[in-house]
Order: sequence, then C-alpha cells, then structure tokens
Amino acid sequence: MGKYIIKVAIVFSLFSCSRNNNFNNSESDIYNKVDSLMSLMTLKEKIGQTIMYSGDWVTTGPTVSSNNIKLLKDGNLGAMLNVYSAKKTKELQKIAVEETRLGIPILFGYDIIHGFKTIFPINLGHAASWDMKDIQKSARIAADEASSAGLHWTFAPMLDIGRDPRWGRISEGAGEDVFLTNEIAKANVKGFQGDDLSKNNTILACAKHFVGYGAAQGGRDYHTVNMGQDELRNVYLPPFKAAVDAGVQTLMTAFNELNGVPATGNKFIFRDILRDEWGFKGFVVTDYTAINELVQHGFAENEKRATEIAIKAGVDMDMMSGANRFYLEALVNEGKVDADLVNDSCRRILFIKFKLGLFDDPYRYCDENREKEVTYKSEYLESARKSAAISSVLLKNDDNSLPLTKNQTIALIGPLVKDKENIIGNWAAAGDRNGKAISIYDGIKTYLGDAKILYAKGCNIKNDDKSGFQEAISLSRKADKIVLVMGEDYHMSGEAASRTNIKIPGIQTELIKTLKEEVPDKKIILILMNGRPLDLSEEDSLVDSILEIWFPGTIGGFGIADVLFGVYNPSGKLPITFPRNIGQVPIYYNVKNTGRPIPLENPNEDYKSNYIDSPNTPLYPFGHGLSYTTFEYSDISLSSNIIGESDILSISVNITNSGNYDGHEIVQLYIHDKVGSITRPVKELKGFSKIFIKKGENKTVNFQLTCKDFKFFNGKDFIFEPGEFEVAIAGSSDFSFMHSFELKL
Ligand code: NOJ
Repeated sequence: MGKYIIKVAIVFSLFSCSRNNNFNNSESDIYNKVDSLMSLMTLKEKIGQTIMYSGDWVTTGPTVSSNNIKLLKDGNLGAMLNVYSAKKTKELQKIAVEETRLGIPILFGYDIIHGFKTIFPINLGHAASWDMKDIQKSARIAADEASSAGLHWTFAPMLDIGRDPRWGRISEGAGEDVFLTNEIAKANVKGFQGDDLSKNNTILACAKHFVGYGAAQGGRDYHTVNMGQDELRNVYLPPFKAAVDAGVQTLMTAFNELNGVPATGNKFIFRDILRDEWGFKGFVVTDYTAINELVQHGFAENEKRATEIAIKAGVDMDMMSGANRFYLEALVNEGKVDADLVNDSCRRILFIKFKLGLFDDPYRYCDENREKEVTYKSEYLESARKSAAISSVLLKNDDNSLPLTKNQTIALIGPLVKDKENIIGNWAAAGDRNGKAISIYDGIKTYLGDAKILYAKGCNIKNDDKSGFQEAISLSRKADKIVLVMGEDYHMSGEAASRTNIKIPGIQTELIKTLKEEVPDKKIILILMNGRPLDLSEEDSLVDSILEIWFPGTIGGFGIADVLFGVYNPSGKLPITFPRNIGQVPIYYNVKNTGRPIPLENPNEDYKSNYIDSPNTPLYPFGHGLSYTTFEYSDISLSSNIIGESDILSISVNITNSGNYDGHEIVQLYIHDKVGSITRPVKELKGFSKIFIKKGENKTVNFQLTCKDFKFFNGKDFIFEPGEFEVAIAGSSDFSFMHSFELKL
C-alpha cells in the first residue's frame, strides 16, 4: 500500500485536496478529487476506466481473449468481473494500485443474483414471499459475504418484467407485475447498497437489463422486442425508475433491440429517459459483448462504428466487447467522438470508486479474516432457511394432504429428492453445489429419521429410463403417503435457457401417472423445483397436493421440510401466472379488456376474445397460494365513495383465520380504472400486506390510496384522470370487483 499512498497523495496535493483516513464523502468534494485526478490522465487512461474484462474464474458468456493482466498493468482496465475471494482480488488490486502510473483501483463486479455463498431462493421464488424485509435482508447478507471476498459490485437486481414462461430468465426476475417488481427493486437496492456505500460491507447494485428484455419474442432469449409507449412506460420502465429513485448506482444495457434500435445503442432510453428525464447520475455498463453485437443486430457496419454508437447513446463502461479498448481513442482523435463523452464516462466511474472508498483504501474489501468470519455465517444460513420456507407456494392441497405428520411413513420419490446440485438454482454466484446444500431428503430426515423414509429415485429429470419405476411402486405401496420431488434441472432456466415446452421434463409425469394407477389409495404430494411457471394441468389432475418450492437455495431442504411438517404454514403467493397450456402464453392477470371480453356467464360465446380449445383462465392465477388454514375476507369498507385530488382513500377489510392453524396471509389490493384516455388493465395491484393471524382470531387491514396511485402514462405524461374506479381486497387476483369510488377533480 506504500507506493499507492504516495501516488494518491501526489495527485491530491497538486490540487490541494489532502487525503486522510476520514475520507470526506461530500459529493462536490469527490467531484473535485475526480477532476484533479482526471487532469493527470491521458485519453488512453480515461478510456481504460471504461473497460471491463473477465478475470476468467467463471464463465458467464462467450469466451473472449483479453490479455487482461497486461491491460491491468498498463493502467488501462477499469473493472473486472468473474473473479472473487479476498486473496485473488487483493493480488489483482495490488497490480492496479502499485504497478500503474496513477494507481487507480479497479472495480470487481460479479453476478450476485440470489446470494453470494449462502444462496437464497431464486429471485422468482423469493418474489413469491412478497416479503420485502426478507428480500432486503437477503441482499444485505449477499453484500456482506460478497464484499468480504473483494467484490464491490453486483449485476443485480434484474428488473425485467417477465410474462412469458418460455423465457429462461424469468427465474431471475420478480415476475409479471409492475407494483410488486417496483417494491422488490427498492428492497434489493437498499439491501445491496445499504445507507453508506463507503462501508466495507456494502456493494453497488446494478439495475438490469435496460430495457424490455423480458418481452423477447416467443420467449427466445436475446430476441427482438417491439412495444409501444403504453407498455414501455407503464410496464417495463417503472421498476427501473423505482431503482433509480432508490439510489441505484449503475444500470446495465439489455441484449435486445427495442423498436428497431438495440438497447446498447439506444439513445432514447439512455440519454432521453434515464439521464434527462430521470436525472440518473451513476454509470451505465453494457451487457456482455453487447457493443460488438450491434454489428450482428445489423445496426452498425463494424465494431468501430458500434463503439461510436454506444458511447453516443449513453453507455459508460464496456463489458467484454473490447470496443472501447480498440476503437475509442481513434474515434476521439478522428473527431468522431467528442472527448467530453469519454470524460463524462470516466468521471462517473471514478466518482463511484471514490464513493466506495477505494481511494481511501483500495484493499478495504479484500479482508481474508472478514471473509472467513462472514461466509456461511450460521445466522445467514438460518435466514436462508426462513426465506426458502416463506417463498414456497402451496398450489393445491386437497383433503389437507399436507402437512405431513411425524408418525407417518412416506415414500419419497423422484430425481430431486437427494439433489444438492440443482437445489441452489441457476446464477448461484459462488454458492457451493453439493457441499453445503441441504437436500429435501436431509430436511425431511430431521423430522422423520431414516426409518420412516422409503426412498426411490424412480427416474431421471430428463431421459426416458423407466428401470426405477418398479421400485418406486413397491415402496409406495408400503408407505402412508407418497411425496414426489420433481421438476427441472438448474440449467433449464436462467440465461440462454428458453423452452418451447413448459411441462415437467422427461418421464417424471409418466411416473406420477403410473403411481396413481398402481397405488390408487395413497395421497400423492408433488414438491416442485423449477425456475419458471410450468404447465401443470396434467399433474394437477393426478396429485392431491402441489407445493411449488422453486430452487429454494443452500438450506432449501430444511426450509421446505419446515413447511411440509407445518412448522411454517405456507404463505407464498404466485408472483406470476401459471398457464393451463403453452398456447395461452403470454398470459398475465392485468390484461386489457378488449372490445369483446368473454362474458363470465358464457365463456364460450362466439365472436368473443376467447380460444376455441382452452379457457382463457390460467391454471393458477397471479397472487394465488394456499395455506394450511383458511382466511375469510369480510366487511370491506371505503372511507368515501368520492375522492378529490388531495384526498386519501382508506379501504379496510376484516380477515378471519377460520381454520386450524396460525398463519400468515398476503393481503392484496387491486383497482380498476374503468375508463382512460389510454385503456387501463382490468386489474392492477396497488398494495399488499403480509399479516399474521392466530387461528380463530381476526384482524383489520387498512390500505390508503391517493391520486398518485392512479397515475399512468397517457402518451405524453404521467397523469391521473377523473372517473369511476373499482377496488378490491383479496387473497389472489382471481376475484370479481364489488366496490367502487369516483375520483372527482
Ligand atoms: C450476461 C447477462 O445477460 C448479464 O445479466 C450478466 O450480468 C452478464 N452476462 C455478466 O455475467
């Protein structure tokens, strides 16, 4: 660190900005320091700050040869991804600060998507908890572990609204709804970044992918996106705005094109919306090789032109393209790119490095002792256990087949029963597969012991080998209940994992059918591990209970066993619609009415917006999720039937736990703006609350709405309009409105 202090001291003393350990973080102070530093930098060094290459530990995209260590030594690298651990990052940081002319520290970024070492449920699953405190806490824990391993920056949260379960990356988002995704955006940003970025346990968040990525045609990854202002402004942009308002420091470009212009070259979204309209001050990083891909998109003749387009569009940092590295200097020298654009990008990046305190102490994040202390801390594992439990969704529970009781013998069958590899899901950062993970078998064992578990794998996830069927049948005959653990493997969701078939893969369903035929008198419980909504129509008709557990994470086995045995009464609600069949996709609850909606009393009426071979309704709607108890909603009351511009409308409901277990309920508030200058969805979530009610007791839940809750983009601006609104409080999106009020302006 000696040489580093001298270098930085020279830089700052030149501009009378003395450096001390109580680093002053005031923004203008930091900008002065950035400007001082930049006045010493060559154009090449400034460009260097905008370049990020992989550290090659992990592969998260096509292989690119970068000669990254030479670049680092030459002071021409601003950031690295895919390398971590206190030791390794320190080694690399030492090169940056001790062997380069100006000693500018580099940033280490990584995909910390649902945990770093301690892995939480996949994001779609965690969204099903509707528990913002828990989501924020998981991001905080991830930041603590990751920062101790030298990381400063996560490429998360992914805020792409997902309405097409064919798209593999639906697993990384918060589902189909804008309101819920907005809340999750804020919780993640707060969790990762904390309230002070200069602390050594907070990291930069990165809202991605800007924008429209979730609307890829046909659910095929990286595919084309065409959408009008209504959908863009009212559905796809708001979660990013929520993240920006919550203080997110970085954004990532999307791979897709948007209305003919690839996102990475899209000035409208980055300069006009993000910078000018929203006032975003942080920096924009491209997705992996996305600048070069402007050529494949057919938007740039060659990589040099792509480089010019990207920086002009508002991109600051180039992840893996090598575009800024190879072409930016020449573009500036030829007068094609204004040097001020490079200055702006460099300034934004350096500003954040200062904010992180890296100029105060570049090694503050690489502390091997802290790394040992916080990694897999027992309280973190305990927290992940709770997250797994609260994220599971009880889709079906005929005859109260769940919970299990300790005196029963169960046949535990399926390819994922003993699995410790898939259970942590895709994008599991540095989480140990196998080693640390707790399988569903391990979890159930803690309640039943080995003696009461009859285990058979039965079949594999993907192939058609039926040699295990017979054993599964014989064991099932000896058991009180059959518990199946089935689903997708972790490679079947995430990036580049789109499917045209969203059924449970392989012959798993055939095994269920066989068990149902051969052992008809036994209850069958299906525990599902998967990264997307699946078409479960067939399984729904075969089994008694379905518990959706997503990929529940490192301690998933314990958390799910807690649910199976009723220690945690399931409370998760779907953040996304489960279709009846793939032909209904895209399907989501807050659709528009159309000019020919289907009449409830006669859904098959001719010349209506319906299918001739399937109902419009989903198998399991958005917001659906059962409990071992029952909740009854009554006495919905509104504080007024007419409200004005500055009024607050209070809506309350009484909820009674009328069943036999204590439990949590996620209470949902929906509105319908009946007439708009731009048509409004038939239902829109506008609030939710997770409450706990003991059996036999009841609670009143109160929501408040003001005019700002009715705002929508009407083609020009965000406005609210007078008129009639319907309102409802319910336990899922499957309800009919019974109450209304008028907004009078
Ligand atoms: C490509 C993915 O689209 C993005 O989400 C991720 O952050 C980068 N690769 C880096 O791994």
